[in-house]
Amino acid sequence: MIKKLWGYLGKYKRMLILSPLCVAVDVTCELSMPFLMGKIVDTGIPSLNLQYITHIGILMISLSLVAMAFGSLNHRLAAVTSQGFGANLRQALFDKVQSFSFSNIDTFSTASLVTRLTNDVTQLQNTLLMSMRMLTRAPLMLICALIFAIAINAKLAVILVIAIPVLVAGIALITRQAEQLFQTVQAKIDAVNGTVEENLIGIRVVKAFTRERHEKTKFKKSNDDLTKIAIKAGNLIVTIMPMMMLVLNTATIIVIWRGGHMVGNHQMGTGQLIGFISYMMQILTSVLMVSMILMMIARAQASADRIMEVLDTIPDIADKTPVLVPQAAYDPLVNAELPAQEPTVHRGAIEFRHVDFKYTATGKGENVLSDISLAIRPGEFIAIVGGTGSGKSTMVSLIPRLYDVTGGQVLVDAVDVRDYKLATLRSAIGVVLQNNVLFSGTIRQNLMWGNAAATQEEIEEAAKNAQAHDFIISFPDGYDTEIGQGGVNVSGGQKQRLCIARALLKKPRILIMDDSTSAVDTATEAKIRVSFRENLNDTTILIIAQRISSVQETDRIIVLDDGRIVGIGTHAELLANNPAYQAICASQMGGAVN
Ligand SMILES: Nc1ncnc2c1ncn2[C@@H]1O[C@H](COP(=O)(O)OP(=O)(O)OP(=O)(O)O)[C@@H](O)[C@H]1O
Ligand SMILES: [Mg+2]
Repeated sequence: MIKKLWGYLGKYKRMLILSPLCVAVDVTCELSMPFLMGKIVDTGIPSLNLQYITHIGILMISLSLVAMAFGSLNHRLAAVTSQGFGANLRQALFDKVQSFSFSNIDTFSTASLVTRLTNDVTQLQNTLLMSMRMLTRAPLMLICALIFAIAINAKLAVILVIAIPVLVAGIALITRQAEQLFQTVQAKIDAVNGTVEENLIGIRVVKAFTRERHEKTKFKKSNDDLTKIAIKAGNLIVTIMPMMMLVLNTATIIVIWRGGHMVGNHQMGTGQLIGFISYMMQILTSVLMVSMILMMIARAQASADRIMEVLDTIPDIADKTPVLVPQAAYDPLVNAELPAQEPTVHRGAIEFRHVDFKYTATGKGENVLSDISLAIRPGEFIAIVGGTGSGKSTMVSLIPRLYDVTGGQVLVDAVDVRDYKLATLRSAIGVVLQNNVLFSGTIRQNLMWGNAAATQEEIEEAAKNAQAHDFIISFPDGYDTEIGQGGVNVSGGQKQRLCIARALLKKPRILIMDDSTSAVDTATEAKIRVSFRENLNDTTILIIAQRISSVQETDRIIVLDDGRIVGIGTHAELLANNPAYQAICASQMGGAVN
């Protein structure tokens, strides 16, 4: 684990290595203090040698200045390194999530990904910070102080042989229990974050259904849960302090009692006794520190696991080694002699060959699509209809590889979609998803997602084709109108038309619109269809729609039912002899269609 995390230190590795050196200097200076103090008491004061006392005093001041300098340098190193490490880790996680397929994201859930990117990273960051401050310092302090103490009086040091194990055993007992509690704390933080995220995403629905009270109760419950566990863990931890004081004070009493005798018998000096007690305190506090850090590292382990789980995930939709395909295979118009090359989308033909699909990560294990076979000609205008849950969105999401088929093949221009480079394939396909979103930024910036190099003419042309131009220029700032987060300040129908314009600006070979005009009035929708017919002649268009009026004039209509194609044909053909289609029409127009 440490080896894996080490890589994310990046340029901060040097600082991490430098840190123990600073600590060593700091500790050495600090530890010589009680020793020098003893010298003043035992040698300087009895002989009333003022010069000796002043010398030692100046030495002590200088050493503490050096200790301070190196100590604060180390704190700086620790702060910079841990922040840098946290930033690198967050970036790596974010980059990784960008490479995830839909199915990968389904597996983790967004709330959990957010917690991992924020809370878990912070956990590791703090652990690194504390470790850099303490992890070398405490053991070093412990060992050196032990050596000094034994050097002063080995007989007295025997007391430590009893005190240290007692302290260690006590701390181990407490932290063992606390560790389990802290793991629960982490899970409870997840739950609180999940509640907040779900609430904020759905805040409009919450208000519309006046569910605020219910939501508050729900939040209170998860918040209370967290508090209860955190307090329990905290309570356990605070018992460490009194226990530590008990051990420390008992040991001090014994040392003073035994040491007092020794001083009386001239077996040791008073200064040595004072020095010994200081070292003993340092030893016992170091023991406490070491165990605290070990506990913190154990806590961080849980976070590290959660982070690594994300970083180790292999995106299940990624480029394979590019397959070279003879050009004639996907473009019959080219000379068959031309050399093989990476395929590109030229014409926009689509073919489904015995396609089966099921949602492996989140599904119920049943096929959502079964044995779909269908060929779509370049430039064809296709509509897909069917009841909700019949698999329409799923079917079109296979074309730009938002998901991969679980059986059969999807081909674009006679090449399996999995043989394209992802970027090549997706840049040729414009998609307006069912739950589409706009991003914060101006309308222009949003539209230019489709084509970063688009000119104002191109932007306006796309907006006109999507029937968005008129309402855009009716805004005071026109194309420079700021869109709020998620597109809050445009209406549902306006948002849909902006999303269509964004997809059109890509000048795609294939355009997929999943229920993208559901919030647009029928007259405007008809205008969009007309402008598509006139201006997008050689683009293959697939639209999914609920309204029969939206699909009536398309070249062919595909009727889906429960993941199977139950009819293909023009409106007239299907109306004449397809019961499923007749049923849909009947339900929408009271049977009065012809
Ligand atoms: N991410 C997912 N994980 C698991 N199951 C899913 C997922 N998305 C959809 N499903 C399931 O797959 C089936 C088909 O869903 P799909 O979204 O393709 O239907 P649809 O025809 O587009 O419906 P609608 O008209 O309501 O948009 C449904 O039973 C649905 O529960
Ligand atoms: Mg759908």
